[in-house]
Amino acid sequence: MPLTIVDHPLAQHYLTLLRDRSTQVEPFRRAARRLAYLLVAEATSDLTLAPVDIETPLESTVGSRLAKPVVAVAVFRAGLGLLDAAVDLVPDALIGYAGVQRNEETAEPMEYYTKFPPMEHARVLILEPMLATGGSLAWAVGKVKSHGARDVTAVCVVAAPAGVERMAAEHPDVRIVTAALDRDLDHNFYIRPGLGDMGDRLFGTA
Ligand code: URA
Repeated sequence: MPLTIVDHPLAQHYLTLLRDRSTQVEPFRRAARRLAYLLVAEATSDLTLAPVDIETPLESTVGSRLAKPVVAVAVFRAGLGLLDAAVDLVPDALIGYAGVQRNEETAEPMEYYTKFPPMEHARVLILEPMLATGGSLAWAVGKVKSHGARDVTAVCVVAAPAGVERMAAEHPDVRIVTAALDRDLDHNFYIRPGLGDMGDRLFGTA
């Protein structure tokens, strides 16, 4: 299972703002969106292109356009923090939503809502910022695959070794793009050092 850590200096700069406990809601959202541009750029860096004839103001030439549609699937809640950047970069992307709540005792996913566009022929980007145990991401990938997805990349902000191992075991075909591979999980299944609860920090809840 391919794992890509985006170590671009800007990505690490924005990740550090997200990790910093003193970063308040509004700058946190801005940093998440800016980091998402870099992560989505990497997650789409291997998309194939099709040639297209165009006219510049001076002559005819051959340009390129994406040969494949893109679907972005936001895993509730925290994935919403990456969605604006994904749609800004790929404006005609279709959007899916995957509502899952984690059971605080087992950290296993409990589904409450899904809505997906057609995705058989698309690059599907699953926006799941915190890859902790891997339960939610493995569940979301299973859902999109049962909806026809065949080309899936996960876009994460921080990943833990346990989540990466679970994905390698259950979905070895899925590429993971993340800004960091952190040390481990604590007894509450939070990523350490991590950045806390991404949804709470994005939305100001606690
Ligand atoms: N979800 C979060 O928001 N943070 C973690 O550390 C783990 C899961």
